[in-house]
Amino acid sequence: MNEFETESGILLKKKQKDKKSEEFLQEKTVKKELIQKSETQENAGEQKEQESNLKEKLVDSEFSIKGQCAISLLLTKLDIINTVLLMNMHRNVIQMKTGRLKSYSSVCKKLQKKGLELDFDTAVERINDLIGVRAICAYVDDIYKVSELIERQKDIRIVKVKDYIKEPKKSGYQSLHLILEIAIAFQNGTQWIKIELQLRTAAMDYWANLDHQLRYKKGKKEAELIDEELRECAEVIGNLDQKMLEIRKKIDKI
Ligand code: GTP
Ligand code: MG
Repeated sequence: MNEFETESGILLKKKQKDKKSEEFLQEKTVKKELIQKSETQENAGEQKEQESNLKEKLVDSEFSIKGQCAISLLLTKLDIINTVLLMNMHRNVIQMKTGRLKSYSSVCKKLQKKGLELDFDTAVERINDLIGVRAICAYVDDIYKVSELIERQKDIRIVKVKDYIKEPKKSGYQSLHLILEIAIAFQNGTQWIKIELQLRTAAMDYWANLDHQLRYKKGKKEAELIDEELRECAEVIGNLDQKMLEIRKKIDKI
């Protein structure tokens, strides 16, 4: 056996070794990928389960029944408040009111927007308007009169006040939001249920509804220009509300 043959033998052995380690690496990568895939599937499975759990607990559930009760109670309270104010002021202060439970898809969107898990307890804790009532008042000062009377109710607690009239949102959005807890007597005791009350004028409502519609239609490119125009419209509407209030105050004095 010459020197040359020995060298080629070594080369051959090295090649075989390299091939083996390459095969080993390939096998390892495939295994790793398989583990990752099964983990992803497991996570996706868990997420799906969490989502269906969220839907089950939100829709046609004990939560939704209790939520409907809270809506009915708050709407009735607003009816009474309107009657009380009508006796004093001889006009309807609350012109319209509605209540709704946030839809499952809107809840998912809001949780995702806030970077939260699609989980029922998280939704109840972190979303204020899962259960909501909106009342449209005639004048801006009526909003604060209604709010004052809401605060006086013994079976209502004020959790938070967000005054987007005194400080409108960057979008131009105006409304008074009261995050409330309302007491309801159920068979197994009294429960305080969180509910958001939005109080706004007809002009604010008109703006918010169109803003909501346009938000879905506009693409990213047009967004900035439209945002600016919508802000301008919100300002016009704010001025209009102020003007109408001044006129009413003048008439009140006559
Ligand atoms: P929660 O407090 O969990 O309800 O969420 P949030 O942090 O988004 O509270 P925020 O007070 O900002 O908004 C609550 C609700 O007000 C929304 O669900 C809308 O109904 C309304 N809203 C707030 N900002 C805007 C806006 O810029 N345009 C319109 N059209 N509505 C708005
Ligand atoms: Mg918001």
